[in-house]
Amino acid sequence: MTDIWQSAMDHAVALARKAGQVVRDAVGDAQKEAVMVKSSSIDLVTQTDQKVEKLIIQSVKEKFPTHCFIGEESVAAGEVCVLTDSPTWIIDPIDGTTNFVHTFPFVAISIGFSVNKQVEFGVVYSCLQDQMYTARRGKGAFCNGRPLRVSHEKDIRQAIIATEFGSNRDPGVVDKVFSSLKRVVSIPVHGVRGAGSAAINMCLVASGCVEAYYEIGIHVWDIAAGSLIVSEAGGVLMDVDGGLLDLMSRRVLAANNQSVAEHLAKEIDAFRVRRDDAAS
Ligand code: IPD
Ligand code: CA
Ligand code: CA
Ligand code: CA
Repeated sequence: MTDIWQSAMDHAVALARKAGQVVRDAVGDAQKEAVMVKSSSIDLVTQTDQKVEKLIIQSVKEKFPTHCFIGEESVAAGEVCVLTDSPTWIIDPIDGTTNFVHTFPFVAISIGFSVNKQVEFGVVYSCLQDQMYTARRGKGAFCNGRPLRVSHEKDIRQAIIATEFGSNRDPGVVDKVFSSLKRVVSIPVHGVRGAGSAAINMCLVASGCVEAYYEIGIHVWDIAAGSLIVSEAGGVLMDVDGGLLDLMSRRVLAANNQSVAEHLAKEIDAFRVRRDDAAS
């Protein structure tokens, strides 16, 4: 296969690094920045989120003028969020905005690139830890150049599971989140963790530090890059009900292997998490 997307990937890595510097420079001052809210009082956005997204999109437009974009803050400003077959950059300028505001050190720039709705490369830069996670379809996943491999554990009772509470705190949704969490904790698993960044949670699966991650309510920009990093590290991706992953469905389950993924999906699905819960 010709390496036609290599220069785009090199550009994504360079941009993630540049964006990471912007975030690092701002992180101590985040609380002084105007912290704005979007859908609710816990759905935060800062000027740095917007600045980083502009920086990435402007630079990509200059270099690849025919490419399309899905960016979290552009969608918030009214752009449509449609994944087509065209070469598309899927950008989360700061994944972990709440962490950024609180200086909790898991903050990532996430850049996925899809063609024919298939992710060709993914770049997640955990910028406060200077960890650059990359994956190219069919060519493996890496962190700072070191190959990544998922955990070998097959028994979910020996697993650490990552998940998040998300920003939808409607009582019905919170009840369902806790019900499925209670099932998972009671398996019992070794532990439950959450980095506060979907992209970093996925990189932790790819690195073998946690066996699986699931979340309902995420968006395509949270998981596009991370999904390829997980699969190229040998992991599996599915819907939380055990079906096929649809990047646009706002639901994800990433795991080290099929056995852990299916067991986890069974526990979550026991609470019949419906597709419309994600969108609410
Ligand atoms: C959020 C983070 C968080 C996850 C939310 C995402 P943001 O992204 O990834 O961990 O629980 O679902 O929206 O808003 O910080 O880019
Ligand atoms: Ca956000
Ligand atoms: Ca995000
Ligand atoms: Ca974001």
